Amino acid sequence: MLNPLSIIIALHAICAVIWVGGMFFAYVILRPSLGTLEPPQRLTLWNTVFTRFFIWVWIAIIILPASGYLLVFNQLGNFQSAGLHVHIMHILGLTMVGLFLFLYFSPYRHFRVAVAAKDWPQAAQHLNSIRRVVSINTLLGLATVFIGASGRFWI
Ligand code: HEM
Repeated sequence: MLNPLSIIIALHAICAVIWVGGMFFAYVILRPSLGTLEPPQRLTLWNTVFTRFFIWVWIAIIILPASGYLLVFNQLGNFQSAGLHVHIMHILGLTMVGLFLFLYFSPYRHFRVAVAAKDWPQAAQHLNSIRRVVSINTLLGLATVFIGASGRFWI
């Protein structure tokens, strides 16, 4: 029988898959595949990719902490009774959210303005800043998934 907590943990895991999987795809697969395109096409394509992907990231950064806190307070009791892996996941998760908010309101905002103005050198520079933040968040995301999924089996 499905109980509400099983839906919440499934939503939590699905949001992690969408966010971390999307970043992994963008960084590891899409980025090297676009190397042959000219800057106007490449930067315009990235602009479209970000516009679509970031809607899903906004959904994930709301549902992940919300479902995480529901799990802590309904399944585990509270943060004091939660395992070390939950504390690490919590800190890493909030760090990832903070990095995304910085990315969204700083380099991504400047990137969009530069693409709209067809200022390709500026857009490329801001894309480079976005790339750096995404690379950090991809690594943090993979580490968080590893810890979140395996932590309950730690001794
Ligand atoms: C923001 C604060 C977060 C809190 C409070 C939180 C809390 C939790 C809790 C309580 C569990 C269940 C752990 C257990 O029963 O042993 C869990 C599982 C999990 N969390 Fe988080 N989490 C957070 C963020 C994240 C983030 C950002 C990710 C990934 C990007 C993530 C990925 C996972 C995964 C993969 C699981 C295991 C799901 C499963 O297969 O059962 N969590 N989380």
